[in-house]
Amino acid sequence: MPQSPTNGRYSSVAVALHWLVAIGIGYNLWQGLGFDSLEAAHPDRLRAAVDLHKSIGITVIGLVAMRVLWKIGHPAPAPLPGLKGWERGLSTGVHHTLYLLMAVVPLAGWLHDSAWKGAASHPMQLYGQIPWFRLPLFGALTDAGKDWWHDKLGAAHTLTAYVLIGLLVLHVAGALKHQFLDGQAQFRRMWFGK
Ligand code: HEM
Ligand code: HEM
Repeated sequence: MPQSPTNGRYSSVAVALHWLVAIGIGYNLWQGLGFDSLEAAHPDRLRAAVDLHKSIGITVIGLVAMRVLWKIGHPAPAPLPGLKGWERGLSTGVHHTLYLLMAVVPLAGWLHDSAWKGAASHPMQLYGQIPWFRLPLFGALTDAGKDWWHDKLGAAHTLTAYVLIGLLVLHVAGALKHQFLDGQAQFRRMWFGK
């Protein structure tokens, strides 16, 4: 893959998109994992929480699309000097799988919601303001058919979210190791500056 000729840092746009996506995904993971306890403690607040979850998830899809398009014209800087072969291989593998999952997890959520038999009577609105659409794939199905897809896609959304959590643990552990154990300027690469 071509390397950026710059100063060992990601471009400001890549940095901004990395951290916006990280905040959106982090919030949605925290919120999604809390839906069951929210339903038990405050069932009246669940609807609004799920609506916010969907709005943030759709926003993440847009930001990830921008991130991928930006990456095509702006390759990553050369890897940190001193990385061992296996560290370079592992970090590249984790980065590629993260790119895949940061698109697949919200897309599975959107498909899951689009297959909901209540979708037609509960139109979607981003942040309660902007009318938004479901993916038009399930309209012709019976309610039983919609239920089947809703369940399967919900399971896919949950499963991929758990795999994403596992990869994020590896990703953050790698970043902390390079910064603090190996004494490399790791965080500087993914932050603003000249
Ligand atoms: C949802 C959360 C996150 C996602 C989806 C994510 C995803 C990614 C991806 C895909 C890259 C590779 C960029 C590229 O080469 O094009 C990357 C790089 C990086 N991330 Fe994250 N990240 C997340 C959270 C974090 C957190 C919490 C930290 C800090 C501990 C972090 C620190 C970094 C650093 C330092 C790099 C640059 C790696 C390098 O040296 O090339 N990320 N991230
Ligand atoms: C940033 C991306 C997203 C992440 C990290 C995420 C994560 C999660 C997690 C962890 C759960 C809980 C799963 C469980 O315990 O079974 C969940 C549930 C759910 N997600 Fe997402 N999600 C994202 C985007 C979306 C999007 C874009 C939609 C729809 C447009 C969506 C719709 C849902 C729905 C409907 C539920 C089930 C809520 C309920 O129990 O009623 N998610 N999500």
